[in-house]
Parts: sequence; C-alpha cells; structure tokens
Amino acid sequence: MDGYAAYTRHVNPGLGRFLELSGRDTRFVSGHGGVLEDADGGTWDDWVAGFGSLNLGHNPPAVKAALAEHLALDAPGLYVESLNPFAGELAARLVALAGEELETVFFSNSGAEAVEAAIKTALLATGRPRIAYAEGGYHGTTLGALGCMARGPYRADLDGVLPGFREVPFGDARALEAALAAGDVAAFLVEPIQMEAGARIAGTEYLAAAREACRRHGALLIFDEAQTGLGRTGALFAWQHTGVEPDVLVSAKALGGGLVPIGATLMRRGLWERAYPGYLRAEIHNSTFGGNPLACRAALVTLEIVAEPGFLAGVRRRGDALFAALRAALADSPAVERVSGRGLLGGIKLRPAAHPWLAWDSFGLDELAGYPVAGALVLERLARRRIVAQVCAHDWSVVRVEPPLTVDDAACARFVDALRDAVRWLEHHG
Ligand SMILES: Cc1ncc(COP(=O)(O)O)c(C=O)c1O
Repeated sequence: MDGYAAYTRHVNPGLGRFLELSGRDTRFVSGHGGVLEDADGGTWDDWVAGFGSLNLGHNPPAVKAALAEHLALDAPGLYVESLNPFAGELAARLVALAGEELETVFFSNSGAEAVEAAIKTALLATGRPRIAYAEGGYHGTTLGALGCMARGPYRADLDGVLPGFREVPFGDARALEAALAAGDVAAFLVEPIQMEAGARIAGTEYLAAAREACRRHGALLIFDEAQTGLGRTGALFAWQHTGVEPDVLVSAKALGGGLVPIGATLMRRGLWERAYPGYLRAEIHNSTFGGNPLACRAALVTLEIVAEPGFLAGVRRRGDALFAALRAALADSPAVERVSGRGLLGGIKLRPAAHPWLAWDSFGLDELAGYPVAGALVLERLARRRIVAQVCAHDWSVVRVEPPLTVDDAACARFVDALRDAVRWLEHHG
C-alpha cells in the first residue's frame, strides 16, 4: 500500500474516500511557489495556499536556506524551563512589529493552541468566567477554541461539554454592548475578516466600537489573525488597516514560513503577569515544542520578508488589481451575490443553483443535502483547468480567494478567466 492509500486507510477514512470517489484525489508530489506538481507531471495553480499558511508559497527558498543554516548550528533542544534565546529574539521582533503595547508572547504550535492561550490568559487575568465571541467565527478545533466556533457540524455534538461562552452577532456593536453589560465577560474574540464565514470583513467602525465597549466594561479585546495576519491583507496584521489595537493578538499558520508549525499569542503589557504571577504559576500554561529553535528561526526569516514595506505594498497592489478584475468579470453575473476581499484574501459568494438536479442528493450524497452546491460545481470547473481551490468552511457558497502572496500576474489572469468561465457555466446550467 502506498502512502496515499495508507492515508485513507489509516489517517482519515471518511475524507480519503470522499476525495477518491469525487475525483479530487490528485496525488501531489511537489510544490514550488504557487505551483503544485502531481504524480503524472501535471502542474496546478494553488489558490488555497494551505488555508493561509503558505503566504510565501511552497518551499520558499529563503526559509529553506535559513532552516538548513540553523540545522548546521546544532542548536540545543531546550525544555520548557530554560532561558530560550531563540524565542526571546522572535518575541522581541514580533513585539516591535505589532506595536510595543503587545509586550509578551506565548509560543505554541498551531492556531488553535494560540487561541487557547488567548482565552485562558484572558480568563485568568480578569478572573471572569466567560468569553464573548462573534457568530460565524473559526478559531480551531480544540475544545476551548470550539467553544467560540460558529454553530454547525464542527461543534454540534459537543455543545454539552463546551464552555458556556456567549455568542454575539458579527458586526453588531450594540449586541456586543449588551453581552458585556453583565460584567462577567473576560474578553471578546473576533477575526478582523471572518474568512470561513465567507470572507466577511469587519468594518473599522464596528471594531472601534468593540474596542471602546471592551474598555468600558473591563473586558479584553482579542483579534484572531491566524489567517489574516503576516501580510495576507496587505498589512502585517489586518487590524493595522483600522488602527484598532487589540489587547491580545493571535498569530499562526504562515508564521512558520509554510514549513514549520508555530503559533504565537501576543499580549498587552502586564496581562501575562496578572494571569500567571509567581514561580508556581509561571509554567502552568506551557507547550513542550512551543518556541523551539527551528520554528523560531523559520518565523524570524518569514517576518523579515512579509513585514517589509515593499512586500506589503506589492500585496496591496496585486490584491487591488485581482479583485478589480474579478469584479469586472463577475459583478453583473446573476450567479454571483458578492465579491469581497482585502489584499489577497477574499471570496466570491454564489447564489444558489436553481436546477433541481444540481443538489448533493442527486449525486448520492444525502448527508450533504441542504448544503450549497454551487461552490463545489465551480471548484470542479476550476479543477478541469488545473486550479486547486476551495470554499469557505462555514459557507460553501463562497469560493475562497487565497493564493500565496507571491502569486504573479499570469496566475491571477488564469484564475480570473477560469472563474469567469465557471460562473458562466453556472449561469447556463444552474
Ligand atoms: C482564524 C483562525 N483561527 C484559528 C485557526 C486554527 O488554526 P490551526 O488549524 O493551526 O489550529 C484557523 C484555521 O483555519 C483560523 O482560520
């Protein structure tokens, strides 16, 4: 049995079988920049970019070189109770780039873990029992993060064991005010762009009102930028477009240059000490591999690239041109409800396909009856043009726009063309 078959047998049988039966079981063997190569030598444009973890594309040469150099140093494998200069150097760089108020950094290995650290630190620092979170969010699949997840299959059968956190409608500052009024909320958790809810962009006014309400009610403001950070929107972090600064900032995914897992939770001055005072508590939140030297090295070199003003300006320029082209190609299509994006992150929301055959149960997938199908039909048309794309996790009617930030004009033109043709196909057949 080869590794691909073994994946279906031993790693995720449900997913593996779905991919095999739906013809989406392409065997990718290598990746460079924004291009994937399959086992038959075919090349594919990658418009998923590891759900925002491949901002620098596949195997970025600068990160590879830094990792090779680092391995040659024989750096010590540190344990949690060590002075870790690698974590120290990376933390200092992150703090300098994110604004000096966010002074302390906890390192972990994923977005979910970075969210867990944010939640737990907020609860301990404020002594309050609840988190308020924006409806429609995606924060990871560990139990604490799931407690802030959008309603739906990710959490449906776990509601009984999840913490009783308070959901508030996204974009509704009044509802947030009401949720904070009881005085029991430690923090409000929100993404500046809710990518998985369909690329919903939080307005500056809303974020500013949330900032103000949190301040008045003694709650902390947490921005989850696992997906929106590290240059994705044309600023190092998406909140920097708005000037609304959080108390806690979650970063992950692309921080490791697409090659090494790392998560980081940046906290306002004094928060860490309030949550974990003294020696006995200094270690009660920790992670064995959090801040390991290799991951820190990858993150440092990644930051060197993505924080560079010229790089960020390039993302804004290319993103503006891409979304202008997408709007020009799609805006008056009856199959398209909206196109939204900032930098190189966004989505195309499709209207429901009306033809009765275009439903999941027509394909024998009764389990998915009721889920939008138009997005999947577009993905299938894109795959025929060798473009790997995906819909948003909580809204399958939205085709995500999320290439590596190194994407070039030619790949953008191929995407716009293929998408326009796919949407035309939907107009005629949907
Ligand atoms: C905004 C956001 N937060 C957290 C996560 C979870 O990250 P991870 O999969 O690394 O745990 C994701 C993953 O998609 C995300 O988009």
